Amino acid sequence: MERAEIKGAEGKLGVLLPGMGAVATTFVAGVEAIRQGLAKPIGSLTQMNTIRLGKRTENRRPLLKDFVPIADLDQLVFGGWDPIPDDAYESTLKAGVLESSHLEPIKGFLSGIKPMSAAFDPAYVKKLDGPNKKSGATKKDLAEALREDIRRFKSENGCDRMVMVWCGSTEVFLRPGPAHQTMEAFEQAMEANDPSIAPSMLYAYAALMEGVPYANGAPNLSADFPAFEALADKNGIPIAGKDFKTGQTLMKTILAPGLKTRMLGLDGWFSTNILGNRDGEVLDDPESFKTKEESKLGALEHILQPELYPELYGNMYHKVRINYYPPRGDNKEGWDNLDIFGWLGYPMQIKVDFLCRDSILAAPIVLDLVLFMDLAARAGMSGIQEWLSFYFKSPQTAEGLYPEHDLFIQHRKLKNTLRWMMGEDLITHLGMDYYDRGSD
Ligand SMILES: NC(=O)c1ccc[n+]([C@@H]2O[C@H](COP(=O)([O-])OP(=O)(O)OC[C@H]3O[C@@H](n4cnc5c(N)ncnc54)[C@H](O)[C@@H]3O)[C@@H](O)[C@H]2O)c1
Repeated sequence: MERAEIKGAEGKLGVLLPGMGAVATTFVAGVEAIRQGLAKPIGSLTQMNTIRLGKRTENRRPLLKDFVPIADLDQLVFGGWDPIPDDAYESTLKAGVLESSHLEPIKGFLSGIKPMSAAFDPAYVKKLDGPNKKSGATKKDLAEALREDIRRFKSENGCDRMVMVWCGSTEVFLRPGPAHQTMEAFEQAMEANDPSIAPSMLYAYAALMEGVPYANGAPNLSADFPAFEALADKNGIPIAGKDFKTGQTLMKTILAPGLKTRMLGLDGWFSTNILGNRDGEVLDDPESFKTKEESKLGALEHILQPELYPELYGNMYHKVRINYYPPRGDNKEGWDNLDIFGWLGYPMQIKVDFLCRDSILAAPIVLDLVLFMDLAARAGMSGIQEWLSFYFKSPQTAEGLYPEHDLFIQHRKLKNTLRWMMGEDLITHLGMDYYDRGSD
């Protein structure tokens, strides 16, 4: 891909969120609290991370946001859809993530964000339903209504550009089928109300048809199939997914690369979670859980490469469980037991007990994706944005490429992509020239 001149980030950036539950509202409320100086954007690379440029001796280490032309938080305007009609304030209260010291000063702002009526079908999210839904004879009608929403939001809010991030529930498990291979087949399937077309795909379709970059925070297929990948590529629209990398999988992709780089073996990794938010309730349905399970299981295989290291990882047993336990709300607890082995095969164990806050970990991911997807669009980068794999449990990649799960490789790739975009040297960490005391 050729490097293009990056267009400026002036004007308003519309942020469209299908699904205005815990993650979406923690993100929106958080951005407003940060804008008002009530809190800090902890966990966000775009707001806090620096980037080294050139040689270590040059001491050039700007903040990412001063290096690449990303939009400023003040430029963001928010909208979304949800079958549950609560405005963003009511939804934030129900999610129970943020405390009143953060919420009360921004109550007026949040109350003003009301969900547009959703393209929702309880056949795809069995544990939920709500009255704020669109009706239409066909799925194509629903998709057209979403396109209309996007255009209206853009003109009413005077947006220059927009980005959509799916923060909706995890839908039931679907594999790509004939309807997902070409745009023609997809459009016919929408007209025919084909069951292989899930609501999240209608949002992705509407975004792509309206030229809006689309990122998918859940493990549903959504935009992860050939027809949409080709459309995004052809129309110059960035897409990325799937499934925000937050609690337990974040830990996995931190620990597993460490074990592998030291050539320590692994017999088994058992992961279990208890959580009590609405997401936990949705994942209590076996069909939604299957979508999540597939997404969570992939990481270890790809990091450890058992096919290359059969003595170390060939017999690894990997199990993931999610248990809905209402008393915990959004404050999930994730336990991991790792049975590892070292020199001469002697066994050892590692236990991790992560008392995490799901949406607190997810919100900065949504922010970074919004800002980086918009940057990618302005930099003329179309189709799958593999450099944003850092943010996903199950990174979307081009056909024939395995996904890179190692958090540290993902991070290097993200930063090198930013250096490449800005015409800076890539950093290889070779560093031989610091020791080069040659004749010249
Ligand atoms: N919190 C995390 O750490 C995390 C990590 C990875 C992925 N995710 C995924 O992000 C998504 C959101 O998580 P959450 O904790 O905010 O869940 P949530 O249940 O609080 O919010 C999801 C919202 O989506 C709405 N929704 C469902 N189908 C919709 C549709 N077709 N159109 C519009 N709205 C729809 C629901 O009514 C609900 O309000 C879930 O799919 C979850 O699996 C969350």
